[in-house]
Amino acid sequence: MNKIIIAIDGFSSTGKSTIAKQLAKKLNYIYVDTGAMYRAVAYFALENNLIGEDFFHTEKLIEKLDDINIAFKFNEDLGFAEVYLNGKNIEKAIRTLEVSQYVSPIATISEVRHKLVEQQQLMGKDKGIVMDGRDIGTVVFPDAELKIFMTASAETRAKRRYKELLERGHNLSYDDVLENVTTRDRIDSTREDSPLVKAEDAIEIDNSDLTIDEQLETLLNLANKII
Ligand code: C5P
Repeated sequence: MNKIIIAIDGFSSTGKSTIAKQLAKKLNYIYVDTGAMYRAVAYFALENNLIGEDFFHTEKLIEKLDDINIAFKFNEDLGFAEVYLNGKNIEKAIRTLEVSQYVSPIATISEVRHKLVEQQQLMGKDKGIVMDGRDIGTVVFPDAELKIFMTASAETRAKRRYKELLERGHNLSYDDVLENVTTRDRIDSTREDSPLVKAEDAIEIDNSDLTIDEQLETLLNLANKII
């Protein structure tokens, strides 16, 4: 069977990772959540007091990039790979609203992007991979055999994210979540280095009114045509 690269890009909280994870499972492919890698860098910056409410030590963070070792380890019970920073499982710690607030400014730093993109390209060198993010089809794997661009209205996305965060036990307001989702989208789409744009050859899917099963079926059909 022909192994391919499947790139799934789109705005925040479009449900990319949920569907990418399931698609990878069905195809027996590796799944990589690149957002988790940018979140890991933001988490590192917060832990090391390099970023905060009124300070952002970009140069110091760049100097420390070699100290950041990000890895994914498959968790059999969960059925997906969790993210580790310097050997510590940070899968849950990177999903807080605090990390969400700092991650997009961190992701504008070219040195950060360069480091992570290099690691992502290595992870996909043997193909058989589903990778989701913002620049996978445009920068990381411009030759990916299948590119998807997921969209949904900002309100649909904020509602999904709010529900997810409440279920995880976070105490926050819907307005804070909506504000975070729209701010991140604005930063991600307007940054100079690798802005979030739909690749010319990507297939756009608006999943506002699609169930997970419907999305999975659509993507599986598209993938099976190529594989
Ligand atoms: O996918 P997720 O929402 O967890 O990503 C968190 C943030 O990481 C995004 O808002 C974006 O700023 C950044 N990101 C990126 N490029 C990627 C993946 C994520 O800039 N490939």
